[in-house]
Amino acid sequence: MSTSSRIPGTGQGNPATRPDLTPELLQSVALKTRDVITLLEEIAGNFSPAAFANSLGAEDMVLTDLILKHKLPIEIFSLDTGRLPPETYDLLAATEKHYDCRLKVYYPRHEQVENYVRTHGINAFYASVELRKACCHVRKVEPLQRALAGKKAWITGMRAQQSATRTALPIRSFDAANGLEKFNPLADWSEKEVWAYIRSQNIPYNALHDQFYPSIGCAPCTRPISLGEDIRAGRWWWEDPASKECGLHVNKG
Ligand code: ADX
Ligand code: SF4
Repeated sequence: MSTSSRIPGTGQGNPATRPDLTPELLQSVALKTRDVITLLEEIAGNFSPAAFANSLGAEDMVLTDLILKHKLPIEIFSLDTGRLPPETYDLLAATEKHYDCRLKVYYPRHEQVENYVRTHGINAFYASVELRKACCHVRKVEPLQRALAGKKAWITGMRAQQSATRTALPIRSFDAANGLEKFNPLADWSEKEVWAYIRSQNIPYNALHDQFYPSIGCAPCTRPISLGEDIRAGRWWWEDPASKECGLHVNKG
């Protein structure tokens, strides 16, 4: 792959990432953005210390932009599973450059990864839902628990329209599994609104989105989708849709 094709946000292709920026669309994004800023300010004020889990997906780039531009005292962290696609690392670097900041990255415990791989094999997640969830636990859930330790609230970029498992997604809920408040400020945003924000603000995003990857996780567990498919159809595509959460979001909230 050439270096130029890996520069975030320069690709062409998926029309969903380039909506027509009509006055109506921009107006609805402006109104929703105002609400999100108000919510983020409330979280920063009333739930300190709060943290935002940044997967570097399209939605998360919107929240990253709002938190950094408004200098909100909310920690931003990412979980590097060790199996992310190169485009995501390129975006991480581009984001640090764009905002002149250093993002906080958490890694899995190396003993747990070694133990998993030695016991089950390097790509054991394809063998069963249990082994897939065990891999997600070692590479994502355990680091998430460390990232959330001592926090009063965490923020995600989840949206209700992303999948059948998220239709009832609230903006705020108590995350009993992790023992803190959880906020999904973009719960009621459409994919179009997310992209209208990204385009109108001209912020960095993952080059894979232009190649029909609306939802991006680890490289071996993510593939592009076809037109008309569910946004998360490319995640763990070999599994039943009902099992397709990685353990970061156990309460559907
Ligand atoms: S998930 O199944 O991988 O959790 P998705 O990719 O749709 O689903 O991410 C939903 C939200 O979980 C993201 O908006 C982000 O807040 C959080 N998240 C997911 N993956 C990561 C990651 N690698 N690092 C930080 N946060 C993440
Ligand atoms: Fe492992 Fe795949 Fe989960 Fe990544 S998404 S942690 S590679 S099972």
